[in-house]
Amino acid sequence: MAYLSLYRKYRSQDFDAIIGQPQIVQTIKNAISLERLAHAYVFSGPRGTGKTSLARILAKALNCTAADRPVLKPCLKCSNCEKIKSGVSIDVLEIDAASNRGIDEIRQLREQVNFVPVESRYKVYIIDEAHMLTTEAFNALLKTLEEPPVHALFVLATTEIQKIPATILSRCQRLDFKRIPAPEIEAHLRDVCQKEEVSVDAKSLNYIARLSDGCMRDALSLLDQLISFRGARVVFDDILLLLGATLNASLTELLEKILQSDLSGALALIDQLILSGKNIQRVCVDLLDYLRNLLLLALGAEKALDLSSDDIAALRALSGRTSAQNLRRMILLFARAEADMRWNPHTRLVFELAVMELCAGAETAVSRQQGTLPPPAAVPAQAENAPPPPAVSRTPGMAEIKHSWPTFMSKVKQANPQLLYLLGEVQIKSYEQNTLTIQFKESYSFHKNKLLQPANKTAVERILKETYGGDIALDAVLEESRPAEPKKETAVPQDPQVELLTSVFPGKIIKR
Ligand SMILES: Nc1ncnc2c1ncn2[C@@H]1O[C@H](COP(=O)(O)OP(=O)(O)OP(=O)(O)O)[C@@H](O)[C@H]1O
Ligand SMILES: [Mg+2]
Ligand SMILES: [Zn+2]
Repeated sequence: MAYLSLYRKYRSQDFDAIIGQPQIVQTIKNAISLERLAHAYVFSGPRGTGKTSLARILAKALNCTAADRPVLKPCLKCSNCEKIKSGVSIDVLEIDAASNRGIDEIRQLREQVNFVPVESRYKVYIIDEAHMLTTEAFNALLKTLEEPPVHALFVLATTEIQKIPATILSRCQRLDFKRIPAPEIEAHLRDVCQKEEVSVDAKSLNYIARLSDGCMRDALSLLDQLISFRGARVVFDDILLLLGATLNASLTELLEKILQSDLSGALALIDQLILSGKNIQRVCVDLLDYLRNLLLLALGAEKALDLSSDDIAALRALSGRTSAQNLRRMILLFARAEADMRWNPHTRLVFELAVMELCAGAETAVSRQQGTLPPPAAVPAQAENAPPPPAVSRTPGMAEIKHSWPTFMSKVKQANPQLLYLLGEVQIKSYEQNTLTIQFKESYSFHKNKLLQPANKTAVERILKETYGGDIALDAVLEESRPAEPKKETAVPQDPQVELLTSVFPGKIIKR
């Protein structure tokens, strides 16, 4: 027999097997036993939470021949139950609105809906991904929903309820499916493992359950992958290997660096993670999960954590180091980054930008109080052994500027890693009349503008003075584009995200 994926093999076959949707199951069961079924239902909610499964169970409950009326427990053996399970019943029709936007199907539906069912009590129409129907298809469907024959029942399943027209919604009973809680997913996975006779350790099951974010299909698919990857014995390290997931240790380290405003340390760590094969999007998701746990702990909501006591102890150590407010800020930033990564191919950059923003903010918010940070660049400390600033202003020459540039950069690094990042790839263009002009590559306008912001400019000028002993004004320009090249679309990037991207990745915007 061909291999059947776990999530199909273990599709819930009756009401009691639907996990995590107790109110919905109860509503449907009550409607059956009180004979008060609506003509049309909308099943809305996140993917993989049981919408299609419940629609098929409802079809079986209505048409099972074990009794002479709809039943609460379909027998799963009669020919109707069997046909519905294998999708060959002529009275239960599944329409996939995603594949052809439904026009022909809905037209056909309108022609046939009035004929009485052939071998069942009810004609059941399951319209999957209903939000994908075209306006025409919706209009056609609306006519049917306005005067449905008594023997017909419609289930519209959708993950995007806001795309279903109000005229349709008002003629349906709406049931909202929830994400399935992680502990219930975990328990189900354990059950499936037992039936499949595979051994997967508890930590792994817990991890998969949390990772799948309430979607049972994802959880079962992950388990499936793991088993085909590792066979009948799976341990936690296999998961990390398969998913390129981050160990908590590196997340802890990354958060520490952020809390210390150690931008260069944080960027180096990200580099390491990527080099060791981690998927940066996955890192971001894990980090969010981790931060959420930290926040819950900081707010005293420990009970809401589905973690082992070891993990909780480790979290507690870190949560004492920052405030709930700061954690919230981090969560918002990383959540935004995570959302951006879905469409933005430069995932690493998106992630790094969030880290940079946090390092800049954390500097003022947290770490300075703890004395872990060097003082801000704008007011550089006079280190004990630093040479005293020259009494009279002197004027260095270009040769000296170039010669001591590494010293200058190391002072920049000490004072403010973000400046180091901005100054990372510049050339010294000229030094005239006490003005040092540095040059960025043509596409680095974001860096240039950021560097010339007053706070940064002043900070750099102070370090220049400290290094060279004279008052030196800073200016920055972009490398001029070669005349042969077509004119750059300078007017286009108004969106700061786009501007930033184009400044870091040479290229041009072809579509916005
Ligand atoms: N509530 C649930 N209880 C038990 N298993 C579930 C549940 N929801 C989903 N599953 C599992 O996930 C698989 C897919 O579920 P189903 O097709 O019902 O999801 P759906 O909500 O229709 O998702 P989509 O919106 O992506 O179509 C099922 O075959 C089953 O294995
Ligand atoms: Mg479905
Ligand atoms: Zn039956």
